[in-house]
Amino acid sequence: MSLTPAIVFAKTTKPKADTAIIGVFSDKKLSDSAKLTDSVLGGIISHQLSNHKTFKGTDGQTLTIALPAKSSYLRVIVLGLGEKDKLDVNKTETIGGRLLGALNAQGSETAVFLNAEELEVKNFNLLLHLLMGFRLGSYQFDNYKTKPKKDKAEPKLKTLTVLTDDVKGWTKEFSEFEILAQSVFITRDLVNEPPNKLYPETFANFIKKKLTPLGVKVEIFDKAKIEKLGMGLLYAVGQASEHEPRFVVMSWPGTAKKKKGQKPVALVGKGMTYDSGGLSIKPADAMVTMKMDMGGASAVVGAMHMLAKRKCSAPVVAVVPTAENSISDEAYRPDDIITSYSGKTVEVLNTDAEGRLILADALTYVQEKFDPAVIIDLATLTGAILISLGMDYCGVFSNDDALWKKIESSSKNTGEKVWRMPMDENFRREMDSQFADIKNVGNGRFGGSSTAAAFLSEFIDKGRPWAHLDIAGVATIKAAKPTNPKPFASGYGVRLLNDFIKENYE
Ligand code: BES
Ligand code: ZN
Ligand code: ZN
Repeated sequence: MSLTPAIVFAKTTKPKADTAIIGVFSDKKLSDSAKLTDSVLGGIISHQLSNHKTFKGTDGQTLTIALPAKSSYLRVIVLGLGEKDKLDVNKTETIGGRLLGALNAQGSETAVFLNAEELEVKNFNLLLHLLMGFRLGSYQFDNYKTKPKKDKAEPKLKTLTVLTDDVKGWTKEFSEFEILAQSVFITRDLVNEPPNKLYPETFANFIKKKLTPLGVKVEIFDKAKIEKLGMGLLYAVGQASEHEPRFVVMSWPGTAKKKKGQKPVALVGKGMTYDSGGLSIKPADAMVTMKMDMGGASAVVGAMHMLAKRKCSAPVVAVVPTAENSISDEAYRPDDIITSYSGKTVEVLNTDAEGRLILADALTYVQEKFDPAVIIDLATLTGAILISLGMDYCGVFSNDDALWKKIESSSKNTGEKVWRMPMDENFRREMDSQFADIKNVGNGRFGGSSTAAAFLSEFIDKGRPWAHLDIAGVATIKAAKPTNPKPFASGYGVRLLNDFIKENYE
């Protein structure tokens, strides 16, 4: 898959392009090569910069300067990068996205970034993240549009050329970011797909088709196998739908020669292709968007794609329980008591608390089968996490401080925000059931994300490092962003997982 616009690195001093880009921090000082361009252009850039009343070089602000006839370019875009010490990965990627927006607004077809290599900050690679934001901002999802929109000009930009002396080095470094963006796009696509097209069977088949050629072993258990294995919870949640549940197991062996006893990292993703709430049905307004309830599974699939593509040295396994929470005369009910794969019994008091049920069977399976070094699950698990943290922060629950620190550090590296949430035995006690080993909801709405995490913790072996990421708030975005002009799916989690594995297990 090659992405448009192409991002290429080149050494040439006379690139063919309609638009030249020059980056400046908020001090508005021109870097050396920008000064050179300025003098070739007769000082037009410095003249504009010192006389312009509103261009302050703040992050993502752009100043477009039309050039006179016979100039090498039609225009120069000065890109504001804001205050040097205040830049972080997130802001930088937003600026990259804004740059793409500015180029498309000008109808630019070919652009050249003249001084990108001279723009540096202390803590991270500014250029790579700028380009990552640029790339993420090129995401589109028009699979179901039969006609292009009349009032919307199609983006024209075909190529961004970045000038550098080290073409080979940058090309190599950026190529990993390109696969990362592709992986994020896979996750976004999956979440954006409608539930009548993407349901457990088609989801599982997609995973197999996408990952098998990359060397990931993909096994799919169908409804009969799920029942035979005794995954009672996954079976129950999926039993009402004509789209039968699936259980998908992906394993990536890792390229490193196996150190004896090297345990894999395990990823688990909630894969509800639709969550109507079941018999505890959701109100109409709350049901819309519930095609996103497989956001955790999609992030895990995107991450596996990334790991396989970049030939991750560590072994990683991922499991995705996938089902549709629907209604029929066969639907599981509030009051049902179901035996889980672990053997523990669960009293269902609300069929809309279904994610924790399918995850419970998956968590048991992955531990029994793979004895992983660590488990990370991602799930659009609770509406309550939106109340606690809004749509920017993912809630992280972990039984292991060291693991939390690792996740926090990957969050800094990638800009995918996290916030640690409390686990406490009081939450677990609240889940005690009168009739079964555990019930699937707490006593009220308070602390709903923590009671959900407490439920999951019941299915984690003692001493096993585990983190549960409640991504109900972050899996989608409400309005377009420079790094995602097509709201709905965000693709959250792919970069966090990739960085987490790279930093700690390779
Ligand atoms: N899939 C939902 C959680 C959700 C809500 C995701 C909003 C994204 C946006 C989950 O299955 C659910 O319905 N949870 C219930 C739990 C409750 C019944 C204890 C909730 O959050 O209301
Ligand atoms: Zn639900
Ligand atoms: Zn759900």
